[in-house]
Amino acid sequence: MKRKPTVVFSEWAESGRDERMAQGHQRAVANMLEYSLKDRKKYRFIDAGCGNGWVVRQLKGQPDCIAATGVDGAPKMIEKAKSLDAESAYFHVDLEHWSPQQKVDVVHSMEVVYYLQDPRAFIQNVYTNWLNTNGRLIIGLDFYKENPISHSWPEDCGVSIMRLLSEKDWISYFEEAGFDSIENWRVDPKEGWAGTLVITAIKTSS
Ligand SMILES: C[S@@+](CC[C@H](N)C(=O)[O-])C[C@H]1O[C@@H](n2cnc3c(N)ncnc32)[C@H](O)[C@@H]1O
Repeated sequence: MKRKPTVVFSEWAESGRDERMAQGHQRAVANMLEYSLKDRKKYRFIDAGCGNGWVVRQLKGQPDCIAATGVDGAPKMIEKAKSLDAESAYFHVDLEHWSPQQKVDVVHSMEVVYYLQDPRAFIQNVYTNWLNTNGRLIIGLDFYKENPISHSWPEDCGVSIMRLLSEKDWISYFEEAGFDSIENWRVDPKEGWAGTLVITAIKTSS
């Protein structure tokens, strides 16, 4: 039987699989952070679907990072994040029904958005309610149409919601939300692996 993503990932946090997952995501995330933070001064940052909080811990204490917040819907992921880092802000929330009290400059999300019932609505909500003017959304995806090896994951992992969309579909969600300067690329493609699809854009109007 397939189960909700947040239920499955809570188990991953208990079994230690979250750490292997973080290692697997490290290279793509380094690429995303380098791009989204270059030339950013005094920024507020949210990791949407932060898992065990490893990206927030990386940014914590960086001179230009005013605040880094992690949000995730898996209770055990957030418990673990808080146990590893009592100083940063971690919230147990459903990304489809949440917005921050204070808008931020960078919203980063690695391997999360396709687990949502309505990724299009989430991207719109980030645009309208999460980001400051000139803020950036950056997402990384391994599960997408042009990466055929990923197509069996819903069965392999027993996860009920996984939206299989094309690169073009994802870009159209950014366009419809009102984003500007949309860019996309793939990190570390190789034989049999299309790479992590990165999509990013800026909110230029207020
Ligand atoms: C593949 S993991 C990635 C975690 C982290 N970004 C990383 O790279 O290690 C996906 C994460 O998205 C979270 N997630 C999935 N659906 C969610 C939802 N509706 N609300 C909040 N978090 C959700 C899961 O709990 C899980 O921690």
